Amino acid sequence: MPWLILVMPRLTSASCECGYSVNATGDAEYAVFTDMIENDFLHTGTDNLTENGWRPQEYNVSKANSRGPYGKQFVVDNIETNSLKDRYSWAGDSDHGGEAGLQLWVREDHSHGYVSGSEMASVRNDILLGSFRVAMKLSNSSGTCGAFFWFYNNSQEIDMEFLSHQFNQSQGAVNLVLQTPYSVDQGFNAAGSPDFKVHSLPFRPDEGFHEYRFDWLADRVSFYVDGKWVIDMTDNIPTNAGHIFMNHWSNGDPGWSSGPPNADTALTVSYIKAYFNSTSEERADDYKDRCSTFDPTKVCAIPTQTVAPDPSGPQGNVTAGTYFFSMDNGKAPGQTTFNTTNHPVEGGATSSVALTSLTVYASFCFALLASAFLI
Ligand SMILES: *[C@@H]1O[C@H](CO)[C@@H](O)[C@H](O)[C@H]1NC(C)=O
Ligand SMILES: *[C@@H]1O[C@H](CO)[C@@H](O)[C@H](O)[C@H]1NC(C)=O
Ligand SMILES: *[C@@H]1O[C@H](CO)[C@@H](O)[C@H](O)[C@H]1NC(C)=O
Ligand SMILES: *[C@@H]1O[C@H](CO)[C@@H](O)[C@H](O)[C@H]1NC(C)=O
Ligand SMILES: *[C@@H]1O[C@H](CO)[C@@H](O)[C@H](O)[C@H]1NC(C)=O
Ligand SMILES: *[C@@H]1O[C@H](CO)[C@@H](O)[C@H](O)[C@H]1NC(C)=O
Ligand SMILES: *[C@@H]1O[C@H](CO)[C@@H](O)[C@H](O)[C@H]1NC(C)=O
Ligand SMILES: *[C@@H]1O[C@H](CO)[C@@H](O)[C@H](O)[C@H]1NC(C)=O
Ligand SMILES: *[C@@H]1O[C@H](CO)[C@@H](O)[C@H](O)[C@H]1NC(C)=O
Repeated sequence: MPWLILVMPRLTSASCECGYSVNATGDAEYAVFTDMIENDFLHTGTDNLTENGWRPQEYNVSKANSRGPYGKQFVVDNIETNSLKDRYSWAGDSDHGGEAGLQLWVREDHSHGYVSGSEMASVRNDILLGSFRVAMKLSNSSGTCGAFFWFYNNSQEIDMEFLSHQFNQSQGAVNLVLQTPYSVDQGFNAAGSPDFKVHSLPFRPDEGFHEYRFDWLADRVSFYVDGKWVIDMTDNIPTNAGHIFMNHWSNGDPGWSSGPPNADTALTVSYIKAYFNSTSEERADDYKDRCSTFDPTKVCAIPTQTVAPDPSGPQGNVTAGTYFFSMDNGKAPGQTTFNTTNHPVEGGATSSVALTSLTVYASFCFALLASAFLI
């Protein structure tokens, strides 16, 4: 397992009882987080994503509320798992053909005035501070917005948003945004604030998988691409606990998503890894039980992904193979872990967490979310 050899030296023999750290505890600067969510979508096949920690959303936003020429329709069935056929590999043929991973579709058909897209929210709603990472390949069809974000409300939101119309022959872009009281005052427009930055990428996000990451600390949000630091934002850092989201949509607005796309088109996610603190008392008690006295040798440093985790090309099986604590025996004590075909769960401790239902929340917040994206 070549990928393991690369990663192992960075890990201590700890079993992670005292959490997971960005940078090692011996470094000048580090941050420790008590909880994690890891999804290996290259090896996840399920009809019920909620069993893997994510709730696909189903709601409509009218044309008037979407503030574009089309309404938006979020449909559960537009999210599909498509695992690799070979459970031992990180590249190769997928179960349903096409790109392996979790697919979030936007549909071409908008004849009924709505563009049908996809969105999912983490079941966990207790997420406060953390390091959040997604490996994904964006849509290659102009006219969609694909986003990885953390959300509490319209003035506490951290976004990495990709507009496929911004991808051109050699490069692409990611829109890094904190939605803040300022952007709310400006009619949900963060442009012109220090919390909005269009960052050019030296590659096309629709041509390969890359890791997009944000580290949210009390005094800053740091954005990364393939492990390389991009920018810090320090104004109006969120202070409440919320959910992680992913979505893929279009409303035809020429000022943002553009489109709609002229073909069904997917954004494909190969993993999500989130290491974070929790506001849940139950989780705090669990942490005290497994780490009664803070011991830095019982903290596991989170490996930094320094290359694009891309399965294409002759080295694909090596580059796409990334480290998961939840697949490493005993490195996820007290954490919720998910079954994948790659890894029978029996090694990792599984605990269930009291989870608040999203149902009421969803209908309330998504009307707001819709407008949160308008720039
Ligand atoms: C990790 O260390 C780097 C410097 O090597 C620093 O820029 C970064 O802010 C540190 N991250 C945290 C979360 O402390
Ligand atoms: C996360 O919570 C733990 C336990 O309360 C604490 O020790 C740690 O400093 C917190 N991390 C951050 C970045 O605040
Ligand atoms: C999906 O899984 C969740 C969590 O286990 C469960 O509550 C829900 O009933 C399941 N939904 C369906 C349609 O089976
Ligand atoms: C969304 O609108 C479509 C088309 O009008 C309708 O069929 C569907 O039931 C609506 N979905 C929700 C969740 O309201
Ligand atoms: C990919 O690498 C894994 C080890 O990480 C190995 O078990 C598997 O056979 C390899 N697959 C291919 C197609 O080379
Ligand atoms: C876009 O991606 C799809 C599959 O993801 C592929 O079938 C299609 O050929 C691609 N189109 C272009 C223009 O690259
Ligand atoms: C978001 O929540 C904070 C804290 O509860 C509140 O002060 C702020 O007004 C809320 N923002 C919006 C847009 O509702
Ligand atoms: C390609 O896109 C980047 C980022 O959006 C932009 O800076 C650059 O000027 C564009 N290049 C061309 C040839 O359009
Ligand atoms: C995990 O998933 C595999 C494949 O779907 C299944 O055969 C196995 O029984 C599952 N294991 C557990 C512990 O749920």
